[in-house]
Amino acid sequence: MSTAAVFAMYSSPFKSIVVLFSGGEFVRSRKADSKRLPRGAAALTAARFSASTTIEEEEEKEEQMKDLKFDQKGIVSDAGVYKTKEEKMFLQNAIQLKGGKNALILGIETSCDDTACAIVTKSGFVVSEAIKSQVSIHENWGGVVPTLAKEAHQNAIDDVVEECLRKAGVTDIGKQVSAVAVTVGPGLSMCLRVGVRKAQKISGEYGIPIVPVHHMEAHCLVARVKEEEWNSSREEEEEENGVAKFPFVALLVSGGHNVLLKVEGVGRYTILGQTLDDAIGEAYDKTARLLGLPVGGGGGPALEKLAKEYEEIVLEPRREQARKEIEQEAHITDEVFEKIVREKVKNPIRFTVPLRKRKTCDFSFAGLKTNVRLAIEKYLGAVVDESKPEQKVLPSENWDGIENRETRAAIAHAFQTAAVTHLEDRVSRALEWVESDGVSPTCLVVAGGVASNQKIRKSLLQIGSNHSIDVVFPKPSWCTDNGVMVAWAGIERLNLALGVEKPVPRNSEAFRKDEKDRDVQVRLKPRWPLGEMDERAIGEVKSSKVSKMARPLGSSG
Ligand code: KG4
Ligand code: ZN
Repeated sequence: MSTAAVFAMYSSPFKSIVVLFSGGEFVRSRKADSKRLPRGAAALTAARFSASTTIEEEEEKEEQMKDLKFDQKGIVSDAGVYKTKEEKMFLQNAIQLKGGKNALILGIETSCDDTACAIVTKSGFVVSEAIKSQVSIHENWGGVVPTLAKEAHQNAIDDVVEECLRKAGVTDIGKQVSAVAVTVGPGLSMCLRVGVRKAQKISGEYGIPIVPVHHMEAHCLVARVKEEEWNSSREEEEEENGVAKFPFVALLVSGGHNVLLKVEGVGRYTILGQTLDDAIGEAYDKTARLLGLPVGGGGGPALEKLAKEYEEIVLEPRREQARKEIEQEAHITDEVFEKIVREKVKNPIRFTVPLRKRKTCDFSFAGLKTNVRLAIEKYLGAVVDESKPEQKVLPSENWDGIENRETRAAIAHAFQTAAVTHLEDRVSRALEWVESDGVSPTCLVVAGGVASNQKIRKSLLQIGSNHSIDVVFPKPSWCTDNGVMVAWAGIERLNLALGVEKPVPRNSEAFRKDEKDRDVQVRLKPRWPLGEMDERAIGEVKSSKVSKMARPLGSSG
């Protein structure tokens, strides 16, 4: 989720969903960015963050990786290390032995502010889910406070995993669960570490392999979960067919991510474009906050509602009036007449659509955020202090009775119109690029928390239809951070034996009871590109986002 405002979708502090055997949820470490946090929190964060930084540790691991590659002639993949071919074989076999298509895979996600877990079968049946959101903890800070997030993960992880196992009826992990998949990046290292430690503990205690997962790959691949029935009798070849079939184009939009991908297979991603500054969800959250809207669980839904209200309560009745006033001449088609009406009745506030002169698939939302701030100052006479991300410039109390509601709604509407048009522009170009490469995408996948926005859904469905391809939206609870996506990404990698790691020995550091931060053996990758950049994607990303990057995720292994 975003730097300036990182909230999950629901206001409930504890959300959990379960499906039982009925026969059938960037770089976020920039949330440690002191400029964006309230002073006290920033100081606290900076101190603790640097105390637990993993730079040396990361470098040491890089060295180890090199040794392995060159000295032992082992097999090194982006996601894991196999010292020998035998080891790789063992891990490949381990997953095949236990349960076949009904093999259970446990997924653990702690990269930001949701502690999530799920158990999914190899064939795609979601057995159980459990999630604990931190909305109420970060709500008043204007963004995720890493140290608080870490603490909350630590307090929740055992219970969330326990709940998930209980709901699935798992009584003996060693016998019933075939592998544990865990998010190792990108995200806040101190948060990732909590999930990884838990995964290592399970792996070592029960002797099951571990599958390191890329958070964004998980967001992307969850569009392929079939919601299979328990013990489905589908034929093997049918099982190959996920909901979203390769190759496809994916737009991932959330509080912390904003990226367009060409997806040709598991681990085969090309970044067509990404945000040069802020993610769209972050812009929604900031705008909602400044307008005095409720932002618990992210400001997106409240902003969408207000923009819709402007459309339905303000613009539509005026258009209706205009339709009566303007005489439709005989030679004018209904479509042209509607265009004339819409030209006559429009929102007087309008924001420039970002990057229109740049013919790429990159995104930018920082300028739009500035436009919102200037409009609030101009039309509502409020003063915005950029150094206080937690501030609500306009009071939200007595919202119903206030005079300037229409102006606020007009700003919300203008923001959403420009943001959605920006997405449309970029997605259309991405589809054109991919088609011109000679790749025929089977569909457009739209995922991430912002993908639940109805206006965005409608617009992107239209773009899909213009390009004659389907648009796949994973269900909302799998668009936001969740355990299912991690378990599923693990399954997709296990199916191809990509990057599976052996169990962590029982006597390792991971088993120490005392609170040690540096005891992870599975490599954490807080900054980890999902793939190589397309050569047409010439955009430059803020330098703070590119330092200490891991090598891009690949499909070798
Ligand atoms: O994927 P997500 O839960 O968390 C990550 O950032 O990973 O996305 C949360 C973001 C927040 O910025 C929230 O405001 C936004 O998704 N969001 C929406 C809507 N619902 C959630 N943005 C616009 N319209 C919505 N309906
Ligand atoms: Zn996410």
